[in-house]
Amino acid sequence: MEQLDQAERVKVDLGANSYDIVIGAGILPFLGQELSCYARQHGWGKQVMVISNPTVEALYGKQIVTSLSEAGFQPALALMQDGEQYKTMDSAMQLYDQALSLGLDRKSFILALGGGVVGDLAGFVASTYMRGIPFVQVPTTMLAQVDSSVGGKVAVNHPKGKNIIGAFYQPRLVWADVDVLKTLPAEELRAGLAEVIKYGLIWDGNFFDYLEKRFREILSLNQEDLREIVKQSCAIKAQVVAQDEREGGLRAILNLGHTFGHALEALTHYRAYRHGEAVAIGMVMACKVSGELGFLSAEELNRVTVVIRSFGLPVEDRNVAAQDILASMYHDKKAEAGKIKYVIPETIGRVRITSAIPEGLILRVLSS
Ligand SMILES: NC(=O)c1ccc[n+]([C@@H]2O[C@H](COP(=O)([O-])OP(=O)(O)OC[C@H]3O[C@@H](n4cnc5c(N)ncnc54)[C@H](O)[C@@H]3O)[C@@H](O)[C@H]2O)c1
Repeated sequence: MEQLDQAERVKVDLGANSYDIVIGAGILPFLGQELSCYARQHGWGKQVMVISNPTVEALYGKQIVTSLSEAGFQPALALMQDGEQYKTMDSAMQLYDQALSLGLDRKSFILALGGGVVGDLAGFVASTYMRGIPFVQVPTTMLAQVDSSVGGKVAVNHPKGKNIIGAFYQPRLVWADVDVLKTLPAEELRAGLAEVIKYGLIWDGNFFDYLEKRFREILSLNQEDLREIVKQSCAIKAQVVAQDEREGGLRAILNLGHTFGHALEALTHYRAYRHGEAVAIGMVMACKVSGELGFLSAEELNRVTVVIRSFGLPVEDRNVAAQDILASMYHDKKAEAGKIKYVIPETIGRVRITSAIPEGLILRVLSS
């Protein structure tokens, strides 16, 4: 119980769609107990389909199933294969089949146990099965704990593009246990940390200072620091999402580094970089553009590159041509009316969104 007492709660304030993100160390065993309160309050049934993949299930499946069973639920595991290439309609169909054969009805709920791939697919299935049944996120990667499990974007990929088929569908609860990050491969941890650095850059200079000072402790998985960075990151994302649930305006600031990053990922066929690594390079590009526009000082730009490097992330790409990056950015699904929406830091902790940047300047920065 001590683990639960020490846990942090961040509320995502979305009126009737509000929910809590609970962040703690060693809290997995208490999930069933928490959910039984939800079930009583909201009239949920006993049946729960736990969607995971074989890697995560082998590590944490038993703990989750035991916790749910002890709280009186009837959990059934449903596994997708491990990997982004399985975040598809085919996998969703297999999960609908399983849900039907288990007899899941509108009072049953779906629980996602895994990283962003499992969370996005499970959320998509929950949002569409019988026009939507309750959904709970148990994120197990750094990226999922600080980003993908919060905010309600759920999706599957289409052969022509990532996350093309999806919905906004908020979870009822996010249960983030930082202890599970101990089994995460180091490169996955680092990739997720790119999003953490992003939160400091877009929203909170003090948080950026903290990351600058504590990167060693964070990389060595100090529990207190992990709890702190997941809490701060979720609190920032929660504030942004609460002001703009469906990406009509402010939410676009979360795309810092992503416009350049997506182009790099696509042009290297998703093989050269993990998403977070491409975002890290993209953030440096955005900061260099900012410097050229007269916003970020040379010292601030240097601080950003040093922090990104100290988390073991790349800060530049030397292989992809500047012209190709620019062309690819015009095809990004977030480009509007043929204009690229750039997210550019004005200082550390504040960004602006603009399309009014001369192509020549972008090309110069990309080629530097
Ligand atoms: N919905 C959103 O708002 C949003 C935001 C950002 C990214 N995403 C999506 O998230 C996905 C990427 O998520 P990801 O980076 O978590 O990758 P992932 O889900 O593929 O997980 C990475 C790897 O780590 C393994 N793993 C997960 N937890 C583990 C643990 N605790 N110990 C050991 N291994 C573990 C997984 O099995 C997988 O092999 C992409 O599909 C992306 O589109 C969604």
